[in-house]
Amino acid sequence: MVQETEVTSKDLIFPLFLLEGNGKKTEVASMPGIYRLSLDLMLREIETCLGLGIRGFDVFPVVEDHHKDKMATKSHQPDFFYMEALRKIKAEFPEAWIITDVAMDPYSSDGHDGIVKEGKILNDETLDVLGKMALAQAATGIDMIGPSDMMDGRVGYLRHVLDEAGFQQVGIMSYTAKYASGFYGPFRDALDSAPKFGDKKTYQMDPANRTEAVLEGQLDFEEGADVLMVKPALAYLDIISDLKQNFPLPIAAYNVSGEYAMVKAAHQMGWLDGTRIMEESLLSIKRAGADMILTYFAREWAELKK
Ligand code: PBG
Repeated sequence: MVQETEVTSKDLIFPLFLLEGNGKKTEVASMPGIYRLSLDLMLREIETCLGLGIRGFDVFPVVEDHHKDKMATKSHQPDFFYMEALRKIKAEFPEAWIITDVAMDPYSSDGHDGIVKEGKILNDETLDVLGKMALAQAATGIDMIGPSDMMDGRVGYLRHVLDEAGFQQVGIMSYTAKYASGFYGPFRDALDSAPKFGDKKTYQMDPANRTEAVLEGQLDFEEGADVLMVKPALAYLDIISDLKQNFPLPIAAYNVSGEYAMVKAAHQMGWLDGTRIMEESLLSIKRAGADMILTYFAREWAELKK
């Protein structure tokens, strides 16, 4: 009766890694229990998860090297395997809430989220590529885009581009406070998307900054975001709480790959009870103010509670 916070499967969004082809399933070495899946197997995975009460899925493409170039050309090609897969997922499961990733890194030969010229990221030129990417994704019937690229001004730009093309109903979950973090390591392994040089500190946030997250929230709020996200989650609970208190929008938190990997590793060593840590982590993220949580634990958590 006095318990203040409760996690439910409706709060969870399951990130999925999509492979090109058929019948393919490979485990991410640093994320035990998490697999890259080709479309046929991903459809079955989504079906199982829907049966467990999970309704949101964030689909990331694993792009083979020969498709990558400096301008991320494949990211907005309507017949690329990612678009075909999104179309089929929505056709088979219209009730699934499908979120896409908007950023250049999976398709970029430089491994950066924006266009690189002479070692620098070109913010405004990148918006053009992101806009084309968002339009190609929206045309597949997805529900919400997730710009994870961190270019300045992209939420307003993407909102405008989507509206002009008649995609007013497609939502934007903005990566509002995405920190330049060491916790993304296993994700970059999963997608083979690590930067080829330098780091992402000119466009992702400084982990030392708290007030700046509110400024980023204000910009995204004014530019038309539907959901504000904080990423990573556990080391940034203060930021989740700040955004929740400052903005009348749903707040998402991304319990990222490194947070998952740490729990799994310690569990395998016999040093921690992984199940307890999973439950406590998700509860804490929700208690801090997250309305929704992107987490690789989604399926495992829902199976435990069923
Ligand atoms: C990049 C992107 C990253 C993640 C989601 N989108 C990594 C990065 O910024 O390098 C990380 C997710 C995770 O670690 O689980 N656009």
